[in-house]
Amino acid sequence: MTLRITPLSGALGAEVSGLDWTRPIDDATRAAVTGAFLEAHLLCLRAAPLTPAEFVRVARYFGEPQLQLLREYRDTHVPEVSVLDSSYKTPESKPADLSRLRLTGWHTDDSYFAVPAKATMLQALALPESGGETCFCNLQTAYADLSEELKARVDGLRAVHSYDTLRTPARAQQRSTVEKQETPDVVHPLIRTHDETGHKAIYLNANRTDRIAGLERQESDALLDRLHAHMTQARYRYDHAWRVGDILVWDNRCLVHSVNMDFAVGQSRRHQRILLKGSVPV
Ligand SMILES: [Fe+2]
Repeated sequence: MTLRITPLSGALGAEVSGLDWTRPIDDATRAAVTGAFLEAHLLCLRAAPLTPAEFVRVARYFGEPQLQLLREYRDTHVPEVSVLDSSYKTPESKPADLSRLRLTGWHTDDSYFAVPAKATMLQALALPESGGETCFCNLQTAYADLSEELKARVDGLRAVHSYDTLRTPARAQQRSTVEKQETPDVVHPLIRTHDETGHKAIYLNANRTDRIAGLERQESDALLDRLHAHMTQARYRYDHAWRVGDILVWDNRCLVHSVNMDFAVGQSRRHQRILLKGSVPV
């Protein structure tokens, strides 16, 4: 089989095909794939569903797997792997207003931690017949396109990330007492510099970024809203239509993502996920 890496869109992303992910890859292949990851910010590894143990082995090519906060989703035998089931089990579970669902908000995983995951890996195990795409925006390009005036205004600002914020219509999931203790508010730079490439990106999570430190609520809201409207424009965006077995690995340091939750009730949408350890945002 031959490794092929091809762009998925003009905004971000590359497809990796021609590899058997149930077998180890050599160092040269690994270097080509991880290099493409830093350049494209998101890779789609075409694969068949893997066992949790195989999935962790693939994850280690990209970084160090970490445990996720919510214990109930962890795999019993391979706790770094969690299974996320976003299916609608009953008609009542699908609201008329989909913005009330957490997954539809443009977010970067884990930003409520002082040391957020650098990347997320998701493999599709079951998919609805239509809908259910995961959508991404490239916040490195979105930052680069800001006017010099706006760059000067936002560079150096810091933002408070909370487990939940009233800025979004969707409420966060309940946490246990231990999980609450592990998730106090944290402060991150609003513009973060990628620790591996040195490129700057907007670091804004619609589900967690509550306010800009030192600004009045009204001024903070206005600036966050303005950045959000800018960074989610179509030209920065790629929507991934999943195939069963697809593994997406994306860079949480420079992308946000959201899910098109408009799919049929009773159809399964299930993924297995691994988060990769990151560093303190600067
Ligand atoms: Fe997410």
